[in-house]
Amino acid sequence: MNQKMIDRNNQTIKDFGRQWLRYNDNEGYYGSLELFSDILSPFLTPDHIKGCRVAEIGSGTGRIVNMLLEAGAKHVIAVEPSDAFDVLCRNIRQPEKVTCLKITGDQLHASGDLDYIFSIGVLHHIPDPNPVVQAAFKALRPGGQFLIWLYGKEGNRLYLTFIQALKVLTTRLPHFMLAAFVEMVYWPLAVYIKFCRKFPLPMRGYILSVFERMSPRKRRLIIYDQLNPSYAKYYTRCEAEKLLKDEKFVNVQVHHRHRYSWTVIGTKPQS
Ligand SMILES: C[S@@+](CC[C@H](N)C(=O)[O-])C[C@H]1O[C@@H](n2cnc3c(N)ncnc32)[C@H](O)[C@@H]1O
Repeated sequence: MNQKMIDRNNQTIKDFGRQWLRYNDNEGYYGSLELFSDILSPFLTPDHIKGCRVAEIGSGTGRIVNMLLEAGAKHVIAVEPSDAFDVLCRNIRQPEKVTCLKITGDQLHASGDLDYIFSIGVLHHIPDPNPVVQAAFKALRPGGQFLIWLYGKEGNRLYLTFIQALKVLTTRLPHFMLAAFVEMVYWPLAVYIKFCRKFPLPMRGYILSVFERMSPRKRRLIIYDQLNPSYAKYYTRCEAEKLLKDEKFVNVQVHHRHRYSWTVIGTKPQS
């Protein structure tokens, strides 16, 4: 990564530190195994994780780590570089089964023995994600799999025009003003959800199957999360697939999750 990219990632890590200090819990559907099944689908189910050694890159407040534990993971490595690290450590339900590391994903130890690595909603916030994908490749055992989830470009074009214009302002706001701004967006969005029930509006799939199921507090977090980080890339299908293929993953498969995002899985070859 060049210096400009490193600075952008450092700023994004700072943004997330601030975000997770405010939205620091994993309540309800947001932290549930049911949502985890939806994230893994159609490639894996929580049953695949039972008894496995796994890692999550970019753990935030630890909701995915707790989902992995609930699915029966034997050991989880949780990587989180931001000031939310303490929140992560506090939220973990079975600390004896987890190693928390305050490092960036590219610094993950090349142990070569992990069964699965997950990175959910993280790589699209890193200007040069390739070193992270490389590190994941080296940390997996032969036959191990890397599953990532990314924002998608396809299915989001209208939303993107809107959000990118808003972010020119919101990424510059101090935290308390951004929180107030979230409140202003929250109520019109509640009306939009009602319209989505009746009409085929943009992002209807995501709104009805994921967003509507979140608690009011988590809906506010999701709005904040869209407006806060200084760097976020929306991937085309081709770019999403290339991310893993470029780092020698094989059998790379892509799923258009709720028609607004990409779930991508790749396997480290046996030899
Ligand atoms: C949208 S959050 C996702 C958190 C968690 N995976 C989840 O789904 O709840 C993105 C996380 O990635 C972390 N992050 C940003 N840059 C990173 C990097 N270079 N390496 C590892 N994590 C990073 C941020 O600090 C943040 O907590």
